Amino acid sequence: MSEQANHDSIASRVTEISRHFDETIRTANLPVYRASTVLFETLESAYATGAAATAGELHASSYGTAGTPTTFALMDALAEIEGRGHDCRAALMPSGLSAISVALMAYLKTGDHMLMSDSVYGPARTFAQGILTRMGIETTFYDPAIGAGIAELMRPNTRVVYLESPGSYTFEIQDVPAICAVARQRGAISIIDNAWASPVFARPFDWGVDVSLLPLTKYWSGHADVLMGAAVVRKEHWAPLWTTVRQTGTCVGGDDAFLILRGLRTVDVRMRRHESTALALARWLEQRPEVGRVLHPALDSHPNHAIWRRDFSGSSGLFSFELQPAAMSAAGLGEAASTAGSPEQEARTARKLAALCERRRFFRIGYSWGGYESLIVPGRIGSLRTTHPWTGGPLIRVHVGLEEPGDLIADLNAGFAAMNAAM
Ligand SMILES: Cc1ncc(COP(=O)(O)O)c(C=O)c1O
Repeated sequence: MSEQANHDSIASRVTEISRHFDETIRTANLPVYRASTVLFETLESAYATGAAATAGELHASSYGTAGTPTTFALMDALAEIEGRGHDCRAALMPSGLSAISVALMAYLKTGDHMLMSDSVYGPARTFAQGILTRMGIETTFYDPAIGAGIAELMRPNTRVVYLESPGSYTFEIQDVPAICAVARQRGAISIIDNAWASPVFARPFDWGVDVSLLPLTKYWSGHADVLMGAAVVRKEHWAPLWTTVRQTGTCVGGDDAFLILRGLRTVDVRMRRHESTALALARWLEQRPEVGRVLHPALDSHPNHAIWRRDFSGSSGLFSFELQPAAMSAAGLGEAASTAGSPEQEARTARKLAALCERRRFFRIGYSWGGYESLIVPGRIGSLRTTHPWTGGPLIRVHVGLEEPGDLIADLNAGFAAMNAAM
């Protein structure tokens, strides 16, 4: 083969050209960096940067998994916004669930014990009962209303106290400051899933938590088009988290990080709209004869309303309501179901729930909430509660989107008409 350079070949040239953008043109938004490879001028800088990235120094990257300017910008934004008033750091994960699993692996080891609220997001419970059990880590589920009484459940090897407020589907508000105070006193780390309120209405580090887990998929993104999670931690808890992130190869791509940064620009205005429309619907639902309780922490009727008022500065678009058992019966409202629990009655309930939820104009059936669009789904929490099994009527969870409140009420009104007509 000739040792002459072949100037007509494109094979080499395409690796050289157009790799540097014009830094004199300033755009409103950051460019998206996509990177597996990070380049260095010298070996010395390659080695030094690699060591800094491993040590968890901010903005150090010798490999795409450690980060790029786009992911660092998002990490900085999360640490500042979620951790306002506190010295925090943030790591990114490819989903909210992976933020939960990576954080739990970071702070727990074989022989440890965890206290987990009974009202947590189902897959968090499954992770504790599955992989954590296999790792020799024991979990006790506690009543979300326990407050300072958690002290009685603490063991010498309790390393993590896990909270979620409000709880998934059932919306219990926990006394987070009281629980975190006990955890701290006993040398355990408190970890909260702070999905519901978004950064706009909750400041979990003011409540005393050590780690806040964020499904960025939900309100931080706001558009139902990207999956991501984050763990925001007090600086003193950064090292185990970052080590676990690096050792597991947990990372996110620049395009997705950019989408979360974009969502963040409008999160405040979106949240205020979700809040007001959801409250209008919740109050309307409270008046419906088919509805028993409306599980929305900002309603006076909510059993933990006082704690919600103390700790939160607003509410979001996600809440549940319970249907009257009589609304499921053949006789309809006004008469108790004579065949409650029979296969015939269960089939009727299924048909009525389908009539309520299916073929709505705005409320669509779907699970991942927090976007601009309204969602409706029955809450099937039967096996997901152990301290207080659910004994109420059918539970319906709604996510109230950014549509006109009147349109959404009309949509649910049509749903109730279809439900009442179903036999
Ligand atoms: C309370 C809560 N935490 C965590 C998650 C997980 O988020 P992701 O869908 O990004 O895995 C969800 C998802 O529905 C959730 O509702």
